[in-house]
Amino acid sequence: MQILKLGGSVVTDKDQPFKPHTENIERLAREIAASAPQSLVIVHGGGSYGHPVAKKFSINEGYKSPDQILGFSKTHQAMIQLNHIIVDALLAAGVPAFSVSPSSFIVTEKKRITTLDLSIVIKLLDSGMVPVLYGDAVLDSHQRFAILSGDQLIVKLAKYLDAKRVILGSDVDGVYTADPKLVETAELLRVLPISDVTGKVKIGEALSTDVTGGMLGKIMEVSEAAKAGVDVILLNACEPGRVQAALRGEKVIGTTLTR
Ligand code: IPE
Repeated sequence: MQILKLGGSVVTDKDQPFKPHTENIERLAREIAASAPQSLVIVHGGGSYGHPVAKKFSINEGYKSPDQILGFSKTHQAMIQLNHIIVDALLAAGVPAFSVSPSSFIVTEKKRITTLDLSIVIKLLDSGMVPVLYGDAVLDSHQRFAILSGDQLIVKLAKYLDAKRVILGSDVDGVYTADPKLVETAELLRVLPISDVTGKVKIGEALSTDVTGGMLGKIMEVSEAAKAGVDVILLNACEPGRVQAALRGEKVIGTTLTR
């Protein structure tokens, strides 16, 4: 059982609203097909689809004014549109992808998952399909609605589906000793014990309109899966071949989180 997260910076052009990164999406679909995974769940992020809409209507802050209700639907719809493009590309590559909306089986409380019914996802996996989920606008029992990040979702999936490996694809090679865009001597950490995460580590990534936390938030979130003994690999999914290698269990350039 493997879980692959494709960050919004991989599947969209983060600087242009509603712009899919078609080249990356199609290449990754081929890589996923070529790796012929036995049991795989794919989760993708929002990028320039979900994030700008969620931000415009302050969806992650919960209900404050009536105009947000339309915004909640629009955020979900933006994610469905991106999901449609990704699932189409996977099907074209021969992957039996099947779209599942997280908001239809998950409820949060103060932005954290409290209710989740994985029975359909499990049945899809048992039938040989590849469920394709995404960060979504979800109902929240405390604040009416919230944004569920793909990162929070993959930790729960890893835990309840007993995953062996979680692969997090973004547009950076992994975690560095300093910001590689600013510090020339910054080195990629091939292994990162989670006890070091809150310390000196700096991550090179622009945040732009990310409403769910950026790269440090990502590491804090997924360290929960590493703590539970799941192999967690952060890698650059914009670099051809890396996702395919990771899915095959081969050594790959990236950062592995360890307990
Ligand atoms: C956010 O999902 C989804 C919405 C904004 C609706 P993520 O937080 O997982 O997205 P990325 O990977 O950072 O773009």
